Amino acid sequence: MTQERFDTIQVHGGYDPGDNADSVSPAIYPTAAFWLENSQRGHAIANGQQPGYLYSRVANPTTAFLERRLAALDGAAEAVAVASGMAAITAALLNVAEGGGRIIAPIDIYGGTYDSLRTLLPQFGVVTSFVEDINDVDRLEGLLGDDVKAIYAESVSNPTTKITDVDALAKLAHRHGIPLIIDNTLPTPYLFRPLEHGADIVVYSTTKAISGHGNVIGGAVTTGTSFDWGNGRYPQFTNPEYVLGEVIGNPPRGFVEAFGPLAFIRRVRVKYLRLTGPVLGTFDSYLQLVGLETLGERLGKETDSALEVARHLKGHAHITRVNYSGLPDDAQHALVERDFPRGVGSVLSFDLEGGAEQARDFIDNLHLFTYLANIGDVRSLVADPINTTHREFTPEDRVIAGIRPTTIRLSIGLENPRDIIADIDQAIDAAYRG
Ligand SMILES: Cc1ncc(COP(=O)(O)O)c(C=O)c1O
Repeated sequence: MTQERFDTIQVHGGYDPGDNADSVSPAIYPTAAFWLENSQRGHAIANGQQPGYLYSRVANPTTAFLERRLAALDGAAEAVAVASGMAAITAALLNVAEGGGRIIAPIDIYGGTYDSLRTLLPQFGVVTSFVEDINDVDRLEGLLGDDVKAIYAESVSNPTTKITDVDALAKLAHRHGIPLIIDNTLPTPYLFRPLEHGADIVVYSTTKAISGHGNVIGGAVTTGTSFDWGNGRYPQFTNPEYVLGEVIGNPPRGFVEAFGPLAFIRRVRVKYLRLTGPVLGTFDSYLQLVGLETLGERLGKETDSALEVARHLKGHAHITRVNYSGLPDDAQHALVERDFPRGVGSVLSFDLEGGAEQARDFIDNLHLFTYLANIGDVRSLVADPINTTHREFTPEDRVIAGIRPTTIRLSIGLENPRDIIADIDQAIDAAYRG
């Protein structure tokens, strides 16, 4: 069969009705554990000698449909779906830096990730060197000591939509024997596939455009197969483990020995999903599968509308700055043209003239936009990052990340773009009328 294209995989990938009582819509398997039939089959499944499911904290068929569909859309070898984007990020970062180490990351990232890197992960021996410009390869080169375990970045940053040069960072990381982890939540695989640009690990908040309807929390980790986890820097992948399909009388094996290039993603499941337990419920997996069926159609239209909104805001009298790297006059335009031929996504941000009062008045006068801390919904959403998604930032880091009291973030939905722009215009008028 020929290689299927993105829109075909969206609706068919990872699922076969013929294996699921002919249910055309993905079947939901709401069971905690699976019938093992007899001890011989039970042992074979537990030892990985025969395919099958044991317990839904580790794997479940409905979630497996989602994992296979996501992996196919991302051009990944495998995916693990978890209960939230933060669970995916935590699992990826701890899996790579377990036992202690350093991560290199930019300051302008999602507030939860920043807070985890700055205040939580150090409690587990994982520290971060934050940089102002993740594309400054020379600066990064100077930071890459023996203790560094990974470079981490967002492909399109939240909320300023800065673009990471994934190809350049991957080359740098690989020269030093470390992997590149990319949070690809904003563009999704529809607009950008980090693994094809050299990234080794991709994390998603599937809460956003992937599920797309603001009705579920979820996350995922995907990986390729090119990184050598047995290169000596990551003992957690080579240490012998009894959990790895050890049959009585057989010696324990390490993850690299057991799974080769899939060591990382298998370890996410075996250690982080199985032992810390952020399992995605089967109904939530189903909602994400249904959401994925229209990902390209939704995000395509939302991205076109976001560009229209950004263009409109750029010429507006009360707007002092528009952050949307999809604009043709953006400083990163060449990089966008090279890596994002379909555009950079549905999220943009801008600054209003004045202060926090104008930002508040603008938000309170919107009718079509919903004020909340989320993105990637079919409905248009608005947030003030300083009070919501980026409130964890220190005042100094907020300045570097470009988050001001006047910064407004928009996530453009599926409404008619003329209605969206009319709503923005009337809310701006109302904010400056008084
Ligand atoms: C870029 C990005 N990554 C990760 C997350 C965290 O995802 P979740 O809320 O699903 O845990 C978010 C949430 O806003 C995000 O915007």
